[in-house]
Amino acid sequence: MEDKIVMAEEFVKAELGKDSSGHDWHHIDRVRKNARLIWSKEKKGDWFIIEMAALLHDIPDDKLNESEEAGWAKLDSFLHSIKIESELVSRIKNCIETVSYKGGRVIELDSIEAEIVQDADRLDALGAIGIARTFAFGGKKGHPIYEPELNVRDQMTLEEYRQGDSSSVNHFYEKLLKLKDKMNTEHARQLAEERHRFMETFLDQFYSEWNGKA
Ligand code: ADP
Ligand code: NI
Repeated sequence: MEDKIVMAEEFVKAELGKDSSGHDWHHIDRVRKNARLIWSKEKKGDWFIIEMAALLHDIPDDKLNESEEAGWAKLDSFLHSIKIESELVSRIKNCIETVSYKGGRVIELDSIEAEIVQDADRLDALGAIGIARTFAFGGKKGHPIYEPELNVRDQMTLEEYRQGDSSSVNHFYEKLLKLKDKMNTEHARQLAEERHRFMETFLDQFYSEWNGKA
């Protein structure tokens, strides 16, 4: 099994190595390490499925492929090329399919492996790393860091204001600050709490500096 993991590492490095939208090889490696940590605490799930799904989880992402179908086809052909049993192939694919949290697309998780890999991926969107990735992603898309003038559009509700704002700071409210309550496993929940507090501290300091108070 170890040799299949090495092949998956090499495949992912070749596919994602140069991505700078927050999905580079280092993201994958951190997700894999988070997944190992959660697995070692939870003591549940098949480590090979978890390791493979963590390594391959971003391969079919529509942001990195011409279409989602093209991404799945790429994943399929890789999994067949390394000659693992078809039962394992479908468990790995099923796990990957359920990990991403995208607006409007929520799939019921049906395995502990998917729960662990999803938690591991979400943890990498939180804390100091999450902050760095958010501004890297926003910068690449040409989004502003923050849009303070939207704060003074008096008649808007907070919800309307946040939906109308595509700044990177807005992404914290849209997604990142909601993640700690969506963790599947107890250990990930604890790690998420810490990272959540760090993001709140960051935002407090950010607003103070922005307003010339610190
Ligand atoms: P993942 O592949 O880890 O599930 P995404 O593909 O949703 O996550 O996003 C990759 C990274 O980019 C994450 O850290 C996420 O917070 C950040 N990101 C996604 N959308 C935005 C956005 N609109 N503004 C700023 N950062 C974003
Ligand atoms: Ni990811």
